[in-house]
Amino acid sequence: MTINDVGPRDGLQNQSRTLAPAERLRLIEALLAAGLPAIEVGSFVSPKAVPAMAGAAEVVAGLPVGAAVYSALIPNRKGYDLATAAGVTQVELVVAASQTMNRENINATTEAAMAGCEDIVTAAQADGVKTLACIATAWECPFEGVIDQDVVLGLARDMFAHGADEVVLADTIGAADPAGVKRLTQLAAQEFGADRLSCHFHDTRGMGVANVAAALESGIRKFDASIGGLGGCPFAPGATGNVATEDVALMLGQMGFTTGIDLVKLVAAVDVVSELVGHPQGGNSIRWLRRQIEKGTL
Ligand code: COA
Ligand code: ZN
Repeated sequence: MTINDVGPRDGLQNQSRTLAPAERLRLIEALLAAGLPAIEVGSFVSPKAVPAMAGAAEVVAGLPVGAAVYSALIPNRKGYDLATAAGVTQVELVVAASQTMNRENINATTEAAMAGCEDIVTAAQADGVKTLACIATAWECPFEGVIDQDVVLGLARDMFAHGADEVVLADTIGAADPAGVKRLTQLAAQEFGADRLSCHFHDTRGMGVANVAAALESGIRKFDASIGGLGGCPFAPGATGNVATEDVALMLGQMGFTTGIDLVKLVAAVDVVSELVGHPQGGNSIRWLRRQIEKGTL
C-alpha cells in the first residue's frame, strides 16, 4: 500500500503564507521520518499562477537522496524541462476532464493539454523519467458539473497509449461519493489494471476516507493524501483540503494493510506543518490519535 503525501504541493500551494524552500524541506523531512514512501515535493508552474511553489528547484536540490519516491507536478513542457533540469525523475502532469477546468487551471483546451501530455510522455520515456498522468475533476467539475465517466476513461486510454506509467484519478474538489468512486475505479481497473492507477481525494464533504475504501475494493493500492488535511486548488472554487494522510494511514493500518507509516511520527509531522503554516491542522482522526499518544497506546 502506497500513500503519496502531496502536502508539500497540493497542501502548500493554496496557503496564504509562502514557505521558503528550507521550510518546505523541513516538512518533507518530517514526512520521511514518519516513513512516507512517496512525496510530491512541489510543482514547476508559473510563479505568477502559484506564487507558493516558487523555488521548487531549491526544494529538489535539498532532498535527502533515495529516502522516498519523489515527484513534482508540471503543467506544461516548460515545467517538464525545469523539473528534469532540477533532477526530478518522476513528474505528474495534469489534464482536467472538462474544458473549463483546463482553461482555468492551465489556460489550455483539453485537446491542447492532451497534446502536451503526449509530448511530455514521449520526452520522459527517452529521458528515463517516470510519468504520472493526473485526470483532474474526474468526477465533478466546479464549472461544468458531473463528469461523464466515459470522458475520463477515454483520457486515461489516451494517456496510457501515449506511454504514461500511471494514471491518477483526482477528485479535485472533493465532490465524489463512494458509489461513484467504485463505478469509475472498477471500470478503469478492469480496462487498465489497478496497479497502474492511483486515486487523489479531497475531503470537502467528509467522504475522503470512504472514497479511499471504495477505491480499495476496486484493487487500487496507491493513494494521494496530505499531511494534516491541507490542500486545495487555487483554480477550483470550493475545493478544500485533501484527505488527511493520518486518516488514510490509520484506516489502512486498522484494516490490516501495511503502509510503512509510523503514526506517532506522522502526528509529529502534523505539528510541523501546523507550525509552518501558522494555524493548527489535522484530519478527522487527529484528536483521537493525540489521545492515544498521550496514553502511550499508539
Ligand atoms: N514554470 C515556470 N514558468 C512558466 C511555466 C512553468 N511551467 N510555464 C510558463 N511559464 C512562464 C512563461 O515563461 C511566461 O513567463 P513571462 O511572463 O515571464 O514571459 C509566463 O509563465 C506565461 O507563460 P504562458 O505560456 O503564456 O502561460 P499562461 O499564462 O498561459 O499560463 C501555465 C499557463 C500553465 C503556465 C499556468 O496556468 C500555470 O502555471 N498553472 C499552474 C496551475 C496549477 O499549478 N494548478 C494546481 C495544480 S493542478
Ligand atoms: Zn488536489
